[in-house]
Amino acid sequence: MEVRKASSSDVESMQKLIQQFADIGLMLPRTIKSLCEHLQCFTVAVENDKVIGVAGLHVLWKDLAEIRSLAVDPDLHGRGVGRKIVEQLLQEAEKLGIAQVLSLTYQTQFFEKLDFHVVRKESLPHKVWKDCIYCNKFYHCDEVAMVYYTHHYDGFQAAKEA
Ligand SMILES: CC(C)(COP(=O)(O)OP(=O)(O)OC[C@H]1O[C@@H](n2cnc3c(N)ncnc32)[C@H](O)[C@@H]1OP(=O)(O)O)[C@@H](O)C(=O)NCCC(=O)NCCS
Repeated sequence: MEVRKASSSDVESMQKLIQQFADIGLMLPRTIKSLCEHLQCFTVAVENDKVIGVAGLHVLWKDLAEIRSLAVDPDLHGRGVGRKIVEQLLQEAEKLGIAQVLSLTYQTQFFEKLDFHVVRKESLPHKVWKDCIYCNKFYHCDEVAMVYYTHHYDGFQAAKEA
């Protein structure tokens, strides 16, 4: 398996992978247009020339980025594909100097394995005021906010020990 930045020839496979989970309410759908506009954000896992996993790192503010549209081929769950993609995105966040990486998710156990911590959504004002207020789930959002603290986070040591 290779984990690499997405290219334009991956876009249709990325969209299909995401759509099958959007259809069952696990994640938001992405249009081809939106995937193209944010192509530089995305990383894919590829095996035998097939896209088997995808996720994007979107910078929201100078100290905050978000992992979005994480999806792994359902036939290949539990093989470490999701972990490899997220680890790559966390390295990217470190290189960009980002202090916190956010995920809004139902997959809390997966993200706990990757050292994310549950936080209150109110502790992330840039996310709430940039995106959440425009979401139709705003008043009844049941996703869990989880944050990974990079080495750029001021309270890095305390956060790791918490
Ligand atoms: C969540 C998802 C991306 C995980 O991908 P994956 O490739 O199956 O996960 P991995 O094999 O890399 O798992 C990494 C670790 O998390 C654990 N894990 C993964 N999914 C888990 C789950 N649902 N519950 C508990 N543990 C889980 C694995 O056991 C593994 O633990 P280990 O390192 O101790 O062996 C995948 O299940 C998926 O695509 N789900 C549907 C879409 C979705 O919900 N996306 C998240 C949107 S935020």
